[in-house]
Amino acid sequence: MKDDRSPFQKLNDLLDGVVPANQPEKEPLNMTVGEPRHAFPDFILDVINQNAHNFRPYPPITGTDEFRQSVENWLNWRYDLGGLALADGNIVPLNGTREGLFHACVGARDWARSHFGKDTSNAAVLLPNPFYHTYIGAARAIEAETVFLNGAANSGFLPDLDDLSKDTDLLDRTIAFFYASPANPQGNIADIETWKQLIGLARKHNFLILADECYSELYRETPPPGILQACEGDLSNVITFHSLSKRSNLAGMRCGFAAGDGDFMTQWIKYRNLVAPQVSMALQAAGAAAFRDEEHVKENRRLYNEKFDAARRILGNDLPYETPPAGFFLWLDVSKFGDDESVTQKLWRDVGVRVIPGSYLARADKNGINPGDGFLRIALVGSLEETQEALHRLRDCLIG
Ligand SMILES: Cc1ncc(COP(=O)(O)O)c(C=O)c1O
Repeated sequence: MKDDRSPFQKLNDLLDGVVPANQPEKEPLNMTVGEPRHAFPDFILDVINQNAHNFRPYPPITGTDEFRQSVENWLNWRYDLGGLALADGNIVPLNGTREGLFHACVGARDWARSHFGKDTSNAAVLLPNPFYHTYIGAARAIEAETVFLNGAANSGFLPDLDDLSKDTDLLDRTIAFFYASPANPQGNIADIETWKQLIGLARKHNFLILADECYSELYRETPPPGILQACEGDLSNVITFHSLSKRSNLAGMRCGFAAGDGDFMTQWIKYRNLVAPQVSMALQAAGAAAFRDEEHVKENRRLYNEKFDAARRILGNDLPYETPPAGFFLWLDVSKFGDDESVTQKLWRDVGVRVIPGSYLARADKNGINPGDGFLRIALVGSLEETQEALHRLRDCLIG
């Protein structure tokens, strides 16, 4: 029987009845959810107040001119796109990227039929493995086959495109490929060549790339290249997703955007007009202001880098661990201490540190290999002090 529980439901079931020892001296520390806890920029509330009159009318699904223009400017600046015009027909605001990723999968199926004349009765949707759980929900909603592409060491723990390109039957049935870079949870990033290879496959086999780049601004040193850079002005078959949730610590504001293929967008906007949530205009004004400011993003990166530096110091050489090039998750190999579920239980029971087993964030592939087995995902989203305390406890618990 299929296990339809979300990773968090599974975790609750796993830890049900397990009581952390040493309370209240050792307050339990929750390192599971990828919800940023750094401050959002001060100006956000002022902008919302100034635009509060716009809470009355329904917002247009296409967004405000100001929001789309701010996104166009940001994308051009960030990815050096040479003044590429996007605001008129290539950008749509999203109520957070989660809904966008879901609805784009529905749109991709409709577009595969209308644009490419594909028979979608045996459609496939490609997913990275590990994956963000919305991808699987979206693929299921359109009754497509979900195909998990394991992250492999030779491809930076991202899907192996060389391997995939041999499976032309699968690629011909594919209608959408969810591709996350930086990846959640590993934090690995696709280079320009990989993006180009992916675009080549999409154009050859007529599917849509749904590039999830919501962690793009949380990099350690070098900004990850984006798929729009690899497009070199031709956006066909490409939609990218960006969010203010991680970049600007505004997960509760629900604001992001999709940008890319104008033909897809035209059709998708008609669909969105029927069923998708609009983004409040007052919040779009705040979102536009957030995309105009980089200072708070720099500070955000500094805070994460400080925590990754602390992780390196605390975990030392005893726990195999590489600082990820981006994102805010520590993807820790704990296989020498047992399987990821039992280590998760031990950490919660013995030292009150709640983490998520890696195997809950991935699926076994056709060979029965789950690439998350033996790993823990630890979200470094709290304060430096909390992070240090959690990592000290983890180290003491596992190493002694
Ligand atoms: C990989 C990935 N994509 C998309 C999202 C959705 O983010 P939001 O809907 O807040 O933009 C998340 C959130 O955790 C995520 O981890």
